[in-house]
Amino acid sequence: MRASIRCIAMLSLFFMPIAAFARSTQSKQAAGTTKPMEKKPFGATPDGKASDLYILTNKNGMEVSITNYGGIVTSIKVPDRNGKLGDVALGYDTLDGYVGDKVYIGATVGRYCNRIGHAEFSIDGAKYTLAKNNGDNTLHGGIKGFNKMLWEARDVSKEGEPALELKYTSRDMEEGFPGNLAATVVFTLTNKNELKIEYTATTDKKTVVNLTNHSYFNLAGPGSGDVLKTVIRIEADKFTPVDSGLIPTGDLKKVQGTPFDFRKPTEIGARIEQDDEQLNLGKGYDHNFVLIKNKPNGLTLAARAEEPTTGRVLEVWTTEPGIQLYTGNFLDGSIHGKGGIAYTKRGAFCLETQHFPDSPNHSNFPSTLLSPGQRYHTTTVYKFSAK
Ligand code: GLA
Repeated sequence: MRASIRCIAMLSLFFMPIAAFARSTQSKQAAGTTKPMEKKPFGATPDGKASDLYILTNKNGMEVSITNYGGIVTSIKVPDRNGKLGDVALGYDTLDGYVGDKVYIGATVGRYCNRIGHAEFSIDGAKYTLAKNNGDNTLHGGIKGFNKMLWEARDVSKEGEPALELKYTSRDMEEGFPGNLAATVVFTLTNKNELKIEYTATTDKKTVVNLTNHSYFNLAGPGSGDVLKTVIRIEADKFTPVDSGLIPTGDLKKVQGTPFDFRKPTEIGARIEQDDEQLNLGKGYDHNFVLIKNKPNGLTLAARAEEPTTGRVLEVWTTEPGIQLYTGNFLDGSIHGKGGIAYTKRGAFCLETQHFPDSPNHSNFPSTLLSPGQRYHTTTVYKFSAK
């Protein structure tokens, strides 16, 4: 009898620390990220490689899914003013949708996002010729841009915040661009409901780099109609007017007195149908805004969007000098996304942070040149809240 009491006492002494450790882990999880990053198979790429889907959840229950195919953000689930979680990003249900996609939904875009005029540029007198995949121009990296590549993924979560690192090395002369470019994108979902995207790149030959994310947002949810009533503000007093191929003319034009003045909160649709030369060329907004930077290269507020029915608010912060507002002018209902929803004209907007389009051909624009020994490093934060 006595022996068994002693035995129980000894056993409990042995198990006590284990139980305490388990309790402390549980409480840490309850207060921290709750769920670790989840990884699910997402299907095979056209060349037979396995892709994955990573689901990042923060302590508030906000959830962002990203695939290492194309570095694509496939969904962003955020609360509305009543706390109801809803997806605010366009996307497809399966990998095949992204493989066939031609409008860059959710994608990491590179090596050079937006357009390069006449599909050519020069560095130190050497001319580089790219593929013409948009009229006479190169759009979003060429025929097979970063959005169609399989990236190497690593879980780099820390301090209770899930983070996914994606790496891709673009080889010398891929799509016509010089230099082996090692690119890294880190997506962090913070507990302040921010999707933070950090891009870095290095090269072994002089090249040009401009990386962005091409998420299409509808803050009321994809398929809930157009985004014309979404109120936006853009921290820009100038924009870069374009020619008929949507290539900047080189001018930095004042927004004052034009439909491009979003310095005060204005509905996207308030002036979109005006008979304005630039709106006619873009079939709506498809223009780069020159951000007011009181801290050059600092992380500053670039734009804010507010959706009146759900109260959802998106703020875009960036270290970049420009932001492209694209109002889904080329969506025509022929694409069926998640749940079979038809993506119709102006059913979403994009706020693509970037250096200005066609910078390699405009010496008055901030430079996109990257040399060996330099490190390209930019940050963009998409911050969600509700009012
Ligand atoms: C960018 C361009 C648009 C269009 C979309 C993708 O935003 O500026 O003109 O090409 O990508 O469809």
